[in-house]
Amino acid sequence: MNSLFTRFLRHPGQVGALCPSSRSLAIEMTRGIGMETARTVVELGPGTGAITSEIIPRLRENAGFLTVELDPGMAESLRGRFPRARVVCGSASDLPDILKASDTPCADVILSGLPWAVFPTQLQDEILDGVFAGLASGGAFATFAYIQGVILPGGIRFRRRLESLFREVSCSPIVWRNLPPAFVYRCRK
Ligand SMILES: C[S@@+](CC[C@H](N)C(=O)[O-])C[C@H]1O[C@@H](n2cnc3c(N)ncnc32)[C@H](O)[C@@H]1O
Repeated sequence: MNSLFTRFLRHPGQVGALCPSSRSLAIEMTRGIGMETARTVVELGPGTGAITSEIIPRLRENAGFLTVELDPGMAESLRGRFPRARVVCGSASDLPDILKASDTPCADVILSGLPWAVFPTQLQDEILDGVFAGLASGGAFATFAYIQGVILPGGIRFRRRLESLFREVSCSPIVWRNLPPAFVYRCRK
């Protein structure tokens, strides 16, 4: 069994959540970021595919869709479940190289299900710099945060980092139907 829960027990510093995002949070992630018109969409840390399932029906017919998952077992299972996605097993911190290797100069939309709160500051910064570099000008980045984290130093720092990188940063309403409740940061390059 390779559920998020069992993987969390084995690798808490990589998984960072006991259960997958709810459908409500996954839908909120796809809103207001131009998903329907994007030529290239990237998802970081798809895990069991909770957000992937809501991305795919919203994609333009000829849009490219790339996902980057660190865990080889998860990546393999995503390949079987989502033939529409090109699944790369690797680290989000290598996003610029992964895009180059995929002949994709940049993405119009990047969504992240990565567990920022458990990442060391240096890894957070590396990944965010790669996200910014990999986004087209005017492109959108969406990522979620659990509400209890926003008053913690790491959560405050993460928000400031987003605000220092992106032209616009806004927050969705809180999604209460998620364990724990969460909201989405929508950022525009
Ligand atoms: C909390 S799970 C989120 C799963 C799913 N996106 C969701 O919202 O339910 C985080 C996922 O990010 C993956 N991950 C962690 N570090 C990563 C990295 N550096 N690059 C790519 N994926 C990573 C983990 O293996 C895990 O599958």
